[in-house]
Amino acid sequence: MNAPVSRSSLQAGALDVTITINGQAYTAKIDPRILLVEFIREVAGLTGTHVGCDTSQCGACVVHVDGHSVKSCTMFAAQADGGRVETVEGLCRGDALHPLQAAFTECHALQCGYCTPGMLMSGLDLINRNPHASEHEIRDWLDGNLCRCTGYGNIVRAIAVAADAMTGRAPGRAQEHE
Ligand code: FES
Ligand code: FES
Repeated sequence: MNAPVSRSSLQAGALDVTITINGQAYTAKIDPRILLVEFIREVAGLTGTHVGCDTSQCGACVVHVDGHSVKSCTMFAAQADGGRVETVEGLCRGDALHPLQAAFTECHALQCGYCTPGMLMSGLDLINRNPHASEHEIRDWLDGNLCRCTGYGNIVRAIAVAADAMTGRAPGRAQEHE
């Protein structure tokens, strides 16, 4: 796991960056080497986005940048300057869970939850792109997200259930994924 970023390293280099995260603008002077995930966690204080590796493999850090899922450990914060980022904290509306969060709960699609923010943001991007994705397509899409706990079956099922709910389809495809 990456070491925490100190305030001094965030401010060294004095590059002005403004990123809108979940509808709120965050402006900071940062070192140009700061990663987007570090900006999200250390500048914005939104720690729902996780860091699970140093090799861009685990997907725990996935967020949406200008509407598309991105591993936020693979880009500099400066590359998102002026952009729009959505994190897992932006999914629910007040006390109401997003349908994908509700499906993860319903399908028991998590255990420790460390991978869950990335799974949710990746899964939502897939549903937005292809709400009719097959089990094979869901599994293929999640190739960049690793989970050490659940065995993936329930995660795949939850994404199918959420896609049905979000498109108003009658539930039923979930059985295909059991
Ligand atoms: Fe593992 Fe980004 S922290 S892929
Ligand atoms: Fe524990 Fe996925 S639920 S790593």
